[in-house]
Amino acid sequence: MEVKSILFVCLGNICRSPLAQGIAEQYIKEKNIELVVQSAGTGSWHIGEAPCENSIKVASLNGVDISKQKAQQVKKSDFKNFDLIIGLDDSNISNLKNLGCKNPLKLGDFGFNGEDVPDPYFFDGFEGFDKVFEMIEHCVKNLIDEKFGN
Ligand code: 4NP
Repeated sequence: MEVKSILFVCLGNICRSPLAQGIAEQYIKEKNIELVVQSAGTGSWHIGEAPCENSIKVASLNGVDISKQKAQQVKKSDFKNFDLIIGLDDSNISNLKNLGCKNPLKLGDFGFNGEDVPDPYFFDGFEGFDKVFEMIEHCVKNLIDEKFGN
């Protein structure tokens, strides 16, 4: 199947999936790949909000601007409209399945031995955000390389 669109999904859409979206957007631009990328959360708490400060900071330290993103909640129509739905951890995957998504994939299966990307919302300050960035960057780039044959 040709992949034309990817939706990254976490819980709040303010910490992890905005990083996946921002990294993917930058990478496909660099590589001149035509792909629509978005992110969403399974929860509704943060709809309309910008990503969390520490995600904006770690992205910026790595040359990625996610500051203009706005959180949105995943919708059932997303499951028809996106070719790939990628959860950041096992609970995102089970939430997606409960919402009717038949075949969500897990980001950690693309280069991190299937590990969960830990939820930094509950971290103490900035510590750990660099590891989260590194995991997401590695897996997002592998995923895109795999789907686009690099
Ligand atoms: P995220 O982190 O899923 O990586 O965006 C979270 C952000 C907010 C909440 C949970 C996780 N929350 O419970 O509000």
